[in-house]
Amino acid sequence: MSFLSYVDLVTTERKMEILEYIYNVHNNILEARRYEKNYFLYGNQDSLYENIASTQKVTEIIDTILHVDEKLAVNNQLIELDAQIKVYTNSIRDLLATIQETDTGKDGNIEDKIRHYGKIISDISEDIVNFEKTQIHSMVSLLREQLIVWASVAIVTGIILSFFSISFVFKPIAAIKKATVAIAQGRFNKIDVINTKDEIQQVMEAFNIMVSELERRQDQLIQAEKLSSLGTLTAGVAHQLNNPLNNISTSCQIAIDEFTDGDPAFVRRMLQNIDQETLRARDVVKSLLEFSRTQEFALRTASLVDVVQKAVLLAKSQVSPDISMTVDVPQHLVLPLDIQRMQEVFINLIINAAQAILRQGSITITATEDIGAQEVIVEISDTGQGIAEKNLARIFDPFFTTKEEGHGTGLGLSVVYGIVQQHQGTITVQSQIGQGTSFFIHLPCPVKIVT
Ligand SMILES: Nc1ncnc2c1ncn2[C@@H]1O[C@H](COP(=O)(O)OP(=O)(O)OP(=O)(O)O)[C@@H](O)[C@H]1O
Ligand SMILES: [Mg+2]
Repeated sequence: MSFLSYVDLVTTERKMEILEYIYNVHNNILEARRYEKNYFLYGNQDSLYENIASTQKVTEIIDTILHVDEKLAVNNQLIELDAQIKVYTNSIRDLLATIQETDTGKDGNIEDKIRHYGKIISDISEDIVNFEKTQIHSMVSLLREQLIVWASVAIVTGIILSFFSISFVFKPIAAIKKATVAIAQGRFNKIDVINTKDEIQQVMEAFNIMVSELERRQDQLIQAEKLSSLGTLTAGVAHQLNNPLNNISTSCQIAIDEFTDGDPAFVRRMLQNIDQETLRARDVVKSLLEFSRTQEFALRTASLVDVVQKAVLLAKSQVSPDISMTVDVPQHLVLPLDIQRMQEVFINLIINAAQAILRQGSITITATEDIGAQEVIVEISDTGQGIAEKNLARIFDPFFTTKEEGHGTGLGLSVVYGIVQQHQGTITVQSQIGQGTSFFIHLPCPVKIVT
């Protein structure tokens, strides 16, 4: 199509050239007729010679045009014009001969002939001019139409190309960018591979392999962190077991002494003591065992207060007796939780809070429900030293710690963050230096809260 347009453009250009010649023909014919009229008005013989000179020019120009292109549509009309000019010029010559013969030169017949043929050549030359003009006009409108078609084709092609660029280049890049930002925030979302069958698809597939690998490493990290806190907790739990064992032992001795001749009701109380303390010891050991077991992430409907209390039980050994701990979680809050991991969240937050309180202070765990938003908000607050503003944005980063070497790995909060994310929840922090810190965990609670 573009080739056709080019051909049309060249043809139009040539037609303009021809039109210029044809205008020349037409002007010279008008000139010849002007001399003809002058002669009839004033009888000046020179006008007839000028007339012949003009028609000769016309004949020469016609000759040139016919040689420029033998296939021009206008050629036949030009040949006809040339023939009529010859007849016309012959009439002029006849008139000149008559002038020389008769002196007066008056011959009505010849004059009529001249006027008659003069009109014919004027008409033919006007027709030729009009014909060429019409042809050029139609060529120009054809070119205009082609231009419109081409412009539309270019616009549509542009739209299609942009669409393809968006689908095959920008979309995958945007998806990779979004996934990268999510990874930086601890969410290991794979991207939906777009089937572009080229390097972009390969990059997306490689990206997903990287995400799986990162996720695996993150799990290892969480496990390592858990083992490290397990070590700390075990030492504390051993200490916690000491109390009930001591109580059991003392109660046993008293019971033995009183067994034969003592008060049976007193012996019974001692045995009940032993039973209670055994249960206490069993709870501590059970919690530790549950916590240490490695399990796949799984959500189960659980009582929030139970999970918090088990965490408090395990973390208690790390909390100084000068720190009071209050749990205010409504009994009826039941929501989908990975019990073991959520326990890990609370243990980490309680230990952090305890470590932030230099001497005396308090740790409070409360929970409220937001039925409209279908979520439960757990707040863990302490009256500790607070977090410097410049550190607030970094505390969830892996390995960020302000603790002395050997006292903290800096993994606690990053693990907390990851676990909350796994629950589709969010965690935020508010802190005031010297006053304390509060962590807020928002957990989705899609099922209707049982009241
Ligand atoms: N309740 C809090 N009060 C004050 N600062 C806190 C509190 N919780 C966390 N931080 C700050 O955030 C940092 C990171 O906490 P994170 O639990 O991730 O690591 P860590 O406690 O330093 O070490 P780890 O938990 O691995 O033993 C802490 O070093 C501390 O500076
Ligand atoms: Mg910590």
